[in-house]
This record gives sequence, C-alpha cells and structure tokens, in this order.
Amino acid sequence: MRAITVRDRDAGIAGLSLTDMPYPHAAENDVIVRVYAAGFTPGELDWPGTWTDRAGRDRTPSVPGHELSGVVEKLGYGTTGLSVGQRVFGLTDWTRNGSLAEYTAVEARNLAPLPADIDHTLAAALPISGLTAWQGLFDHGRLAPGQTALIHGAAGGVGSIAVQLAHEAGARVIGTGRSADRDRALAMGADTFLDLQTERLEDAGEADVVFDVIGGDILDRSAALVRAGGTLVTIAMPPKVRPTDGRAVFFVVEPDRTRLTELATRLRDGRLKPIVGAVRPLAEAPAAFAPATRTQGKTIIRVMEDRTRDRS
Ligand SMILES: NC(=O)c1ccc[n+]([C@@H]2O[C@H](COP(=O)([O-])OP(=O)(O)OC[C@H]3O[C@@H](n4cnc5c(N)ncnc54)[C@H](OP(=O)(O)O)[C@@H]3O)[C@@H](O)[C@H]2O)c1
Repeated sequence: MRAITVRDRDAGIAGLSLTDMPYPHAAENDVIVRVYAAGFTPGELDWPGTWTDRAGRDRTPSVPGHELSGVVEKLGYGTTGLSVGQRVFGLTDWTRNGSLAEYTAVEARNLAPLPADIDHTLAAALPISGLTAWQGLFDHGRLAPGQTALIHGAAGGVGSIAVQLAHEAGARVIGTGRSADRDRALAMGADTFLDLQTERLEDAGEADVVFDVIGGDILDRSAALVRAGGTLVTIAMPPKVRPTDGRAVFFVVEPDRTRLTELATRLRDGRLKPIVGAVRPLAEAPAAFAPATRTQGKTIIRVMEDRTRDRS
C-alpha cells in the first residue's frame, strides 16, 4: 500500500516521502480502515510520538497524520462495536502509524460511525479540532450556560470550533485573534472580538473559562482574566502563570467515540462548520507540510476516492 513515511528525525519536512509499506496488522480490538481522507498537524514532526512508541523505542519508518475518515476494511481479534464496510472517522494513537496511508490499523474505540451524508473531507477536518474544543471547554473548563468564555485564536482550527460549541452551549463568547479574523469569529458565534495586535488583552474583561491556543506571553497574561472560581485551559504549553483564584489546565486531546458522535450530529445538522482549506492528493502531502504552501483552514489529504458513496 502507499503511505507517507518519515525516517530521519533531523531531516524535517524534507524527510517526508511517498513510499510502499506493508499492509498493516490488526491487533486485538483494532480495525483496519481504508482511508479516504486524512488530516495532519503541521508541527507533528516535532512530537516524540512521531518517532518512538510508548516505551520510547524507535518506531521509524513512521506514518504521520492522526485524523481520518474512511471505511472499515477488517476487524482485529475480538473487535466489537464496528463492522466491515462501515463508514467511520476519528483520531488515531499518537505513537502508532497514522492516517497518511491507504490503510491504517486503529483501535476501534478511537473511531465513531460516520453518517452516510457527511463527506469524508469534512469528517477528517473535525477529530482534533472538535475533540480538543469539546474537552477544553466542557471537560476541563466546566463551561456552563450563562458563563463567559474567552477563546484565543477564534478563527483558527480549534478556536473556531470552540466558539461554535460555546455559543451553542449558551455562553457569552469573547473571541481573539488578528484583525483579519474578526468577521469570521463573529460569524461563528463570538459576541465580541479582541484584536490581539492592536488592542490590550487586559481590556477583554473577565471570563469563567479562558481557552488558550497560542501560549507564550498571551498565555501568561491570560491568567489574570480568569474570574474567581474559573479555569485557564491551554493546549499550547504548561502554564507558568496561574489564576490567583482558579484552576489552570494544560492537556493533550484524547480520542473519544461518544464525543465524536455528538460532533458528527452537529456537523450533519449544520450547527458545526469546520474550516477546510486546501484538499490535496496523497502524493502532495509532503509539500502540504511546508509553511509556505499553507492556506487558511485545515488542509485535508484525499488519500483515496470513495466513488460509490462520497459526495465530494
Ligand atoms: N494539546 C492539544 O491536544 C492540542 C490539540 C490541537 C492543537 N494543539 C496545538 O494548538 C495550537 C493551535 O492549533 P490550531 O489547529 O487551532 O491552529 P491554527 O488553525 O493555526 O489556529 C491558531 C489561531 O491563532 C491565531 N494566532 C496565533 N498566534 C497569534 C497571535 N500572537 N496573535 C493573534 N492571533 C494569533 C492564528 O492566526 P495566524 O494563522 O494568522 O497565525 C490562528 O487563527 C497549535 O500549536 C496546535 O499544535 C494542541
């Protein structure tokens, strides 16, 4: 099968290449997914899990990409909950071969059924941004109706989904970002927008949940915006400055079938709109990692075409 692989940690994106790989092995409780659409994170070549397994042992050549949408091709020993031929989408393990491949082995519990009328391209754009936004706002931030959420990077991948979910949950939403992001953040459901380039973050007002995706100085200064009893949630880095009367949480997103199913329902009925940017074939995935080729929105790799069922 064809896959994008990396072998040399020092080579950066120049080390990404389209190669032939053996068909993957389905371990207990795995499924093999025929991948139609895949998502990747531009920075993942810097993640330890790209290079080593959970025990820290070298696992190269490894296949990057951790978001996928496709069809179950085969079940591992003892696998339940999914069936061969079923459309699925989800988030693969950080320390196993991923989604930039025609076939990949995934724990079944990391996947959710994908309704027939959601196309693979849209579904592949949702697992990381959707689960991160959901877990950040509700599991870690404990956001409740009537509260205020301040969401940094409100027009970006995670931020734009967080804005939509927080708005739907009945929170007042303050979005931040660059001036060009204002209209998109407001259209997604932000009540107000603060331009981090020209306005003072300290003038944004207090929030029950401050959701950071940027880190650094913005994260440090965000701790002071957390209302008493509230939470500073960040996905960028462990916070150095904590709220005086509140919690600070840094987390890494986890696969979650139940939440994926809830996200798919919202995708289907139009409550959620992930921002898809470029859609490129598998052979162009190495080039798509390059910062110079990036467009706004999530780049999706169309690994194979599902000519029988997919609308796109
Ligand atoms: N811990 C986890 O589990 C987890 C999960 C998902 C993502 N992440 C990480 O979280 C970060 C955000 O992910 P994402 O997919 O949302 O990225 P993204 O799509 O690039 O969104 C980030 C947004 O923040 C804006 N931004 C960044 N720095 C800014 C600044 N100084 N001032 C104003 N706006 C700024 C960006 O604008 P520009 O594009 O104009 O810079 C963009 O709109 C990435 O580093 C990603 O690796 C972590």
